[in-house]
Amino acid sequence: MKEETKKSLQAWQTNAKFWDEAMGDRSNEFHREVVRPYVTQLLEPKKGDFILDVACGNGNYAAYLACKGVRVVAFDYASELLTLAKKRQHAYLDQIEFVQADATDLDSLLTLKRDRPYHKAVSNMAIMDISEIEPLFQALYQLLDDEGIFVFATQHPCFVTLTDRYMTAHQYQGEAIAGQPVLQTYYHRSLQDIFQTIFKYGFVVDGFRESCFRDPEHPEIIVVRARKRG
Ligand SMILES: C[S@@+](CC[C@H](N)C(=O)[O-])C[C@H]1O[C@@H](n2cnc3c(N)ncnc32)[C@H](O)[C@@H]1O
Repeated sequence: MKEETKKSLQAWQTNAKFWDEAMGDRSNEFHREVVRPYVTQLLEPKKGDFILDVACGNGNYAAYLACKGVRVVAFDYASELLTLAKKRQHAYLDQIEFVQADATDLDSLLTLKRDRPYHKAVSNMAIMDISEIEPLFQALYQLLDDEGIFVFATQHPCFVTLTDRYMTAHQYQGEAIAGQPVLQTYYHRSLQDIFQTIFKYGFVVDGFRESCFRDPEHPEIIVVRARKRG
């Protein structure tokens, strides 16, 4: 594992218990009201779907999908979070396979290949936590079926940052939830950088939302649907 990934992993391992307790079974208000509705709208999960949950955290969204009759492979690089996810989502383990994989490592991602391609992939609020995103898009192109889509929600890079730089990719330390044990690393990318990566690896964008929390004029997240080009 690359040094940068190791550094970010260490923070998620340390914060795992705090994160799981803060999200509980229902996730927080931000996830419930800002993230999930738009992700679900663009993902359109339905019974019989086979979906990859990228950077699944404590597995709440995987469980939500399982309730809809979806089979899920949910991965994260933080073993501590996966242990808590398996415990919290024990009622759904016949439908959800929790596995450890690193989203910055192509070989690791390709271990997520199963006996059939995924119909869809989803990622809630993790793209800004992943130190390098090119391997993820490269792998998803191989893991998804020909009609496959990848829906992700991530911090709006224009409105949510702790620095005054926009165009240049950079990293900074911050808190996902107030009071977490240690700060984590955020990886800022401009919209242009995010979209160029999507296009570079064979996807087009056919769905896009900006979602607000407390301030209706300043969206905190973007939700993107990337679809495999035929
Ligand atoms: C803000 S949390 C979101 C968790 C979950 N998707 C949710 O919405 O509750 C970000 C997640 O990204 C995971 N993550 C960050 N970098 C990763 C990587 N390189 N590979 C796999 N998971 C990663 C973290 O462990 C953490 O679970």
